[in-house]
Amino acid sequence: MKKILPIKNLREEITIPGDKSISHRAVMLSSLADTPVEIENFLAGADCLSTISCMKKMGVDIQIGEKILVKGNGLFGLREPSDILDAGNSGTTLRLLLGLTAPQNFLVTFTGDSSLRKRPMARVIKPLTEMGASIFGRNDNKNLPITVLKPAKKLRGITYKMPIASAQVKSAIILAALYAENPTTIIEPYPSRNHTEKMLQAFGAKLEIFNNEIKIFPAEKLTAPEKIIVPGDISSAAYWLVLATILKNSCVIIKNVGINETRTGIIDVLKNMGAQIEILNSRESGGETFADLKVTSSKLRGVEFGGEMIPRLIDEIPALAVAAAFAEGDTIINDVGELRVKETDRLAAIVEEFNKISPNSFEATEKSLTIHGGNKKVFAECKTFADHRMAMSLSIFGAAADGVAIDDSDCVKISYPNFFELLS
Ligand code: S3P
Repeated sequence: MKKILPIKNLREEITIPGDKSISHRAVMLSSLADTPVEIENFLAGADCLSTISCMKKMGVDIQIGEKILVKGNGLFGLREPSDILDAGNSGTTLRLLLGLTAPQNFLVTFTGDSSLRKRPMARVIKPLTEMGASIFGRNDNKNLPITVLKPAKKLRGITYKMPIASAQVKSAIILAALYAENPTTIIEPYPSRNHTEKMLQAFGAKLEIFNNEIKIFPAEKLTAPEKIIVPGDISSAAYWLVLATILKNSCVIIKNVGINETRTGIIDVLKNMGAQIEILNSRESGGETFADLKVTSSKLRGVEFGGEMIPRLIDEIPALAVAAAFAEGDTIINDVGELRVKETDRLAAIVEEFNKISPNSFEATEKSLTIHGGNKKVFAECKTFADHRMAMSLSIFGAAADGVAIDDSDCVKISYPNFFELLS
């Protein structure tokens, strides 16, 4: 058990670790380039290290130091791994690499940890199979272990209307589409994070993007920039945005945060609830926007949202639920069925564990979450279900309330290895 003590206020300048989604993509795309790429502010969390380990097993030279140096093998230079690829806890590693390995002329088998082995993969395997890929998973959900065979012939470009907004599914199709014989079109119900598209464009690939439609043209080579600078992860900044808002007499400046518009739903919703968040020193690098965020204590009110907003803050909902518990009135979050298939069933986990800290405050249906704000908070012992975002959200919840003890704190290494150092 790790015990988190109550915190009175927060007055800090904080630097947060690199963006997890962008770190994965930086390693994957650099591995497909002909020239070396240096990656700065790479997130050396367990998930992104799983991606590095998989790429190395496919023959890519990657050196891990203060910066990451990737010496890519070119678009057609990946090699058959002599062992199983282990994606660990990382859905992004697995789903994107299913897309990348589907067109390769070799066989590869993936596995992962007990959480990833339960997560649905049919959503990626279905469109890739339509493109002509040969991918076999366990049972109807196509769970791990999954084997990708050399395709019978070159993949064909398809038009695919995605039933759910998912950047992982979209990115898997985009990566496979680079190797297809004709262009591929993807139509999303709502825009999800677009880091793959932005980075591929920075690598010279041809994509046409119009509203929710993305057309990807087959590529002959990728031309890498010499350096990629990864912005700070807004999903990690979310914990400090919430904590500084709900604690009294607090003011925090979070430096170098990625504020790509497909990721800033947390800022929009917190502001709608009454939070004071200023975006300072906004600047561009490699197609992504960086800024410093200044956040000051505020009184919050409950709000209702869903639909298009959800993909823009899907990973921040546990942190937002904490904010909502300190707001006046109810907060209703609709269209969040996807939370049931994250690292754990996050809707069930929130209801079960957050109610221990603020009794009778959290209710869920199959696809929605309601938070009754302003109830009494008590010290509690809570379970994280080995989910990094549950661990960090419970920690800030306890810190702003009467303290909390969590059963597993180690899982924060997935996305935020020094989270507790900073919290303490
Ligand atoms: C991610 C996409 C999201 C997100 C995950 C990272 C990505 O998943 O929840 O943490 O890097 O593409 P979905 O694509 O399943 O929504």
